[in-house]
Amino acid sequence: MYQVYIRSFADSNGDGTGDINGLRSRLGYLRDLGVDALWVNPWYKSPLHDGGYDVADFRAIEPRYGTLADAEALIVEAHEHDIRVIVDLVPNHTSIEHVWFQEAMAAPPGDPARQRYHILPGKGTDGSEPPTNWVSVFGGSAWTRLDDGEWYLHLFDHTQPDMNWEHPEVREELCSILRFWLDRGADGFRIDVAHGLAKDMDYPDDDHDQKLLVSSDRPDHPFWDRDEIHPIVREWRAVLDSYDDKMMVAEAWVASDRIALYLRPDEYHQSFSFDFLATDWNAEELETSIDRSIKASGVAGRAPTWVLSNHDVVRHATRYGLPEGTDWRTWLLDGPHEILDTELGLRRARAGILLMLGLPGPVYLYQGEELGLPEVYDLPLDVLDDPVWEQSNRKQKGRDGCRVPLPWTRTGPSYGFGSGDAWLPQPELFGAISVEAQTGDPDAILELYRAALAVRRDHFASDDDIEWLDSPAGVIAYQRGSGAQCWVNVSGTDMALPADANVLVASGPLDGVLPVNHAVWLG
Ligand code: GLC
Repeated sequence: MYQVYIRSFADSNGDGTGDINGLRSRLGYLRDLGVDALWVNPWYKSPLHDGGYDVADFRAIEPRYGTLADAEALIVEAHEHDIRVIVDLVPNHTSIEHVWFQEAMAAPPGDPARQRYHILPGKGTDGSEPPTNWVSVFGGSAWTRLDDGEWYLHLFDHTQPDMNWEHPEVREELCSILRFWLDRGADGFRIDVAHGLAKDMDYPDDDHDQKLLVSSDRPDHPFWDRDEIHPIVREWRAVLDSYDDKMMVAEAWVASDRIALYLRPDEYHQSFSFDFLATDWNAEELETSIDRSIKASGVAGRAPTWVLSNHDVVRHATRYGLPEGTDWRTWLLDGPHEILDTELGLRRARAGILLMLGLPGPVYLYQGEELGLPEVYDLPLDVLDDPVWEQSNRKQKGRDGCRVPLPWTRTGPSYGFGSGDAWLPQPELFGAISVEAQTGDPDAILELYRAALAVRRDHFASDDDIEWLDSPAGVIAYQRGSGAQCWVNVSGTDMALPADANVLVASGPLDGVLPVNHAVWLG
């Protein structure tokens, strides 16, 4: 699965913003890369306060991205390239520009139009304190006051009011939106904030740590991973099952031991194992994390869904170049940036992709990782667009550094992304690591991805379990049902390879040994 951050993929009309027609023009590239499906980040009508996760109309395309006809054509053409398309659905909240929120704001306190959201009187004698102490994921209070004195809940930006999932109209509307996109040929959905939705309707104060990744030893969180989520998911699944061959994947930031709940036979088909993404480059921790994910999804009879990068986290080519234990979210702003070893990060990213692609279960790639794109950590503060920057009171730089538009060519305006400047500035090094510069170069990471994706189909693509192999300390080694093996050297010394080793793909030159920070697939 390949994640397309539409705003930054390819710009067909030179306005600096990626668009659907840009994506259509690059389907050949994606087919040749060897991906089976695309997940396209939200493309709905939106003021783009949170990159489109603030949806004003779930049935219309944002004009900066194109038209509904373009979206329909994309789905048809992707299918012609043997590529499926899943769209990103955002059920936890809408934009403040959504007609429901506009109606809610125009209505007086107590009016039914307010009940589709969480709109409450405040605390204190004059109601000037927020209804609860809940904190937004982006920082600051999760409540914003309306002019008439009531408060609305937003677990993310203040432009993203949370919907009330106890409201029957909210539930019906979401099923209808699913049908709208399935009727247009979409193959499924990535469900945003799948561990959100349900709230404790008594609105208690929150005495939990503010962590997205909740764990089952802290049950009954007032707004994360609540049991009331699951009946909602079953309604969606029933809609999907009334069509042929559709799927949905959960963005549920929950502890591994909660994942199986989302993977029950009448719920999600896939749920990301963020545990693996959050693990440092450390053999023991990686093995433990892989084991934990396999066991956790195995409870539901599924394989895990793997991912190393997405539009919300520091790109892994950069994460892996930072000393173990670095908090990469705060490192972006606070540094020190000298601790980053870019070459080391890229070497490990090359090895890491073989580690991940060899595992049982679906894998999601994030656009640009096949080019080894680093995080652009030094974007000037005045170009930052992510609401995290302001909402955190400028304490967190946010996620723009992994959303910088893709370089397609060595030179030219925005390195082939479009015909003019891109909406975020690209660093100069992007030309040298563009698609054009890497294509046909056997040493390039892009060619490593192409080779690995091709070999994966024959040797690693089934969902059977893995068998851990005996290996020197610090070397991760496993075998799959096909007999193919993956060896990753996370130790401090090179490892000798058997003379008769049949190398399928290697992350770099071997010469009889598996060097430190390299990986190899053996057949
Ligand atoms: C998800 C998205 C993220 C967005 C948030 C609010 O975590 O991946 O980009 O900001 O939800 O919709």
